[in-house]
Amino acid sequence: MTNSTKKIYNFAPGPAMLPDSVKQQIIDDMPNWRGTGSSVMEVSHRGPVFRNLVEETEELLREILSIPDDYDVLMTPGGARLQYSMMPMNFSSLTGKAMYFVHGHWGKSAILEAQKFCNARPLVPYKQDEIYTHIPNYDMSQLDDSFDYFHYTTNETLEGVEWQEVPENNGVPMFCDMTSNLMTRPIDVSKYDLIYASAQKNLGIAGITVVIIKKELQLKAPNNLPLMLDYRTYSKHDSLWNTPPTFPWYVMNLILNWIKNTGGLEAVATRNNAKSSKLYDFIDSSNFYRNEVEVKSRSKVNVTFLLKEEKLNDDFIAGADKAGIKAIKGHRAVGGMRASLYNAMPIAGVDALIQYMKDFEKDHG
Ligand SMILES: Cc1ncc(COP(=O)(O)O)c(C=O)c1O
Repeated sequence: MTNSTKKIYNFAPGPAMLPDSVKQQIIDDMPNWRGTGSSVMEVSHRGPVFRNLVEETEELLREILSIPDDYDVLMTPGGARLQYSMMPMNFSSLTGKAMYFVHGHWGKSAILEAQKFCNARPLVPYKQDEIYTHIPNYDMSQLDDSFDYFHYTTNETLEGVEWQEVPENNGVPMFCDMTSNLMTRPIDVSKYDLIYASAQKNLGIAGITVVIIKKELQLKAPNNLPLMLDYRTYSKHDSLWNTPPTFPWYVMNLILNWIKNTGGLEAVATRNNAKSSKLYDFIDSSNFYRNEVEVKSRSKVNVTFLLKEEKLNDDFIAGADKAGIKAIKGHRAVGGMRASLYNAMPIAGVDALIQYMKDFEKDHG
């Protein structure tokens, strides 16, 4: 196999790999998208062809996730991080209280941002430099209706720690950062009041964020918010108030069609379980590699692992790169390695990674 044809598996945590068929579709559509004679990047977001895409994308999201009618589906710019600001701006106030559950890097970022706008408290005390390998024990009895909302992160992408159940919210509006695991398994949307995920992991490419929000919640927002930071602007104008990120919206549409045509979320979850179990089983069977996350909270989409000796990390990464295993290095805050196994990663990618890990162990173990 020559270098140019060698199969590459991209384990990046986001922006992450796209399905081959979606990339091919993008290439095919480029010169003449849906008969417009232009690429999707060149047509008006208010024209009928793009409006069709907007409607279709919402319908696909509603169908795949079974989103109830009393929720709006919004598309916002600014990534998941903008949601960290918009949530407290819309739903709390300087005198208001919000409860955050922190068990990793993104939860810490979310609460720090919220503290600029309201009294945001951690349900369980946390340390800024703690590297989580589990979901801390918690007592939800502290959560009562004096709190404007409760926020948590379903999957901590850096540490590879994922909730497997939905916490009890005691009737307090529940907000959730699902950036790294929305669309990776079925969820019950009705348990939440606000769900958000930026697209660059399981919904396409960076530039657009899906927000699924209960309609009635939006009535509570103050009236003096900047328009682009007010959820109601997006609801009222079908997320087309300003010129939206049209290309990421189009890629999301392709991804949603791909999810639907490959069996929907049940099938996606089956594939993701198979991939992550295979890798964890291999790691657990080895004396050379280890994963330190408590078994019941291991992420099905971000598998972190350490080598027997840290000094081998650079060699491991360099060899992986040569073997076509890309972007396997863990986040600098956590160290070690991380294999992101989002929806587009085929089981063959996991097989290739395991084979490389075996070969490396043979040479260095
Ligand atoms: C769980 C989680 N939340 C938030 C973010 C930040 O997303 P963005 O860069 O789109 O703001 C990420 C990015 O990796 C993430 O994994």
